[in-house]
Amino acid sequence: MDFASMTKYIPLFLEGIKITVQISFVAVIIGAVLGLLLALLKLSSNKVLSFLATVYIQIIRGTPVLVQLYIVYYATYPLFGFNIPPYIAAVATFGLNSSAYVAEIIRSGIQAVDYGQMEAGRSLGMPHGMVMKYIIIPQAIKNILPALGNEFVVLLKETSVVSIIGTADLVRQADIIKAATYSTFEPYIIIAVIYIIMVQGLSSVMNRVERRLKRSDYR
Ligand code: ARG
Repeated sequence: MDFASMTKYIPLFLEGIKITVQISFVAVIIGAVLGLLLALLKLSSNKVLSFLATVYIQIIRGTPVLVQLYIVYYATYPLFGFNIPPYIAAVATFGLNSSAYVAEIIRSGIQAVDYGQMEAGRSLGMPHGMVMKYIIIPQAIKNILPALGNEFVVLLKETSVVSIIGTADLVRQADIIKAATYSTFEPYIIIAVIYIIMVQGLSSVMNRVERRLKRSDYR
């Protein structure tokens, strides 16, 4: 065991952290925007739009993200005649993937608010949209925000598969260091520790946000 010899690869580990966090962050933002759209489509009274959103969500959630990555990266080659850069393929795949999961987070977050809230608002004479905006959505946010943070944690770990198409994430950096040093133990143990630190850090931030959101429940 020789962790001392790993110190000269610190810049590679840092680069890996940067890329992993970047891909996860951009993906969760794309996922949140597209996911909100998908959730609205799925909940809409238009049967066709709702059906299309359901099909999209089922295809994404029903196939492994690795297969989706291969499709975005390799199967687009015959279409365009060139490979899109691995980094772009990684962000696109995880953005599209995350949107399906976020759509379900938002839909279930809205539907988890007791239906009596809608009835109470309507019986006071408020139109449907107004009840949604002032009564349902503010309560749904409390279900949605923590789950979105959780999605970010999931992405931090799941994006490790992008190393397979050559995206320079944490796992890819460990692969490179392994190839350069013939050390198979140290690089992977180090990135495991880095992943734990990132996930724990994020979880503690999320816990604080969650406690803050709960505070108003007790007033
Ligand atoms: N490992 C699972 C898969 O390959 C999860 C994918 C990502 N999950 C997510 N919440 N975005 O299908």
